[in-house]
Amino acid sequence: MRKIGGPSLTGHVGSETSVCAYERLRDGRRESYQPEENVVRTDPQQPHGSRIDLYVDRYADRARSMIASEIRALFAVAARPEIVSFAGGSPNVAALPLDVIGNMASQLIAGHGSVALQYCPAHGDPGLREKICEVMALEGVHAHPDDVVVTVGSQQALDLITRIFINPGDVVLAEAPSYVGALGAFAAYQAEVLHVPMDASGLIPEALDGAIARLAAAGQRAKFLYTVPNFHNPAGVTLAADRRRRILDICSAAGLLVVEDNPYGLLGFEGEPMRALCADDPDGVVYLGSFSKTFASGVRVGWAVAPPAVRDKLVLAAESAVLCQSNLAQLLVREYLCTQPWREQIKIFRELYQQRRDAMIDSLEALMPAGCQWRRPGGGFYVWMRLPAGLDAKAMLPRAVSSRVAYVPGTGFYADGQGAQHMRLSYCLPEPDRIREGVRRLAGVIEAEIDLRDTFGSGGMHGTVGVDTPGPEVP
Ligand SMILES: Cc1ncc(COP(=O)(O)O)c(C=O)c1O
Repeated sequence: MRKIGGPSLTGHVGSETSVCAYERLRDGRRESYQPEENVVRTDPQQPHGSRIDLYVDRYADRARSMIASEIRALFAVAARPEIVSFAGGSPNVAALPLDVIGNMASQLIAGHGSVALQYCPAHGDPGLREKICEVMALEGVHAHPDDVVVTVGSQQALDLITRIFINPGDVVLAEAPSYVGALGAFAAYQAEVLHVPMDASGLIPEALDGAIARLAAAGQRAKFLYTVPNFHNPAGVTLAADRRRRILDICSAAGLLVVEDNPYGLLGFEGEPMRALCADDPDGVVYLGSFSKTFASGVRVGWAVAPPAVRDKLVLAAESAVLCQSNLAQLLVREYLCTQPWREQIKIFRELYQQRRDAMIDSLEALMPAGCQWRRPGGGFYVWMRLPAGLDAKAMLPRAVSSRVAYVPGTGFYADGQGAQHMRLSYCLPEPDRIREGVRRLAGVIEAEIDLRDTFGSGGMHGTVGVDTPGPEVP
């Protein structure tokens, strides 16, 4: 708020002495003036700057391919308390011993602040890298701490790996469907994504072989295969043990690097963790890991393990991106791994997510109308659901949100417009009772949608019913 009286207003709305009430945009902010108060008020809610993009013709080509993820657009809506959100993939951090972690954080700063608040090597804290090797040993990987590059979540590792390998137009092979954040990184570097089908046992080796052969016939070679082998996001499936060796052999024969993205590998509900692809071919695989799902996503600590030459490039790329990442966050994770029973904590998480998976699957079985199909995931956070023919998950979303339930439409998980008939349901965050209530609401929305379809046919539905793929097909 400011008193007026300077020449600034003249020439805009009248003379200095006879300004009448007005509302205008000034430097992009909404400003209003009431003569009787003689003050100008600026709307504090207004963002700074004009909404008109003055630089629209000056962006680099790569900025044009950056698109907001379907999930980001949903976050604001889904966070409203009345909505049961099956949309996000946020871990249940409330199950952590928050008081213990709070004490650790304050001791870290009070006792070791001159290190913790300082820059650190781009490669990452050496002590943390040692602990990361210990974590990876649970999946059969025997990495050296020098092989590890600590990153700002595994999302940064995805960005860096794409940055060092992809020229505009290069091909990336990725499962159908694929993790939305990876697709965002690939799009930002103008990669072409070729989706490879999955089934109940994960990526189909013959389909991978076929995709590589089709590319070769067209004179092309993919730069890498991107895969989420365990408790896939969004499909919920896990790559079967007997397929792992075959996938590695196919990639090795084609000279194709594998990017193994594995944030959920330790969150299986039954049995031991699967052996990582990287364990059997350390030279052919870049492994991406994360503490987001087994500790806390807010610390933003992930990592990549790569063959030495690739690792060196990743470190250079990380330096140019962030110089180094948060030392404080790394030391907090190191301290947590050194002093806390982290394996026990992962067990607590597994049990909690298993209960929620059961609540979701039981209520889907009890409530969903005929024609909806899904699979029971053996771990992780997600159920991938197929809607009855003629229904479009994206077009239906506003009606679901009006009924106070949210999900992510399947189209977000494909680079080529498929997925309209699918949705991803996350069970990681809501309590079991809320999950049951959310499924009840969602079932009501789908039933109403089926009625509409039966009355008007799918041509009469709102939105377009896009192309759809089987992957991964459900019984
Ligand atoms: C498959 C997959 N990769 C990577 C990420 C990104 O994780 P981070 O929080 O470590 O950046 C996620 C997050 O949901 C994910 O599901």
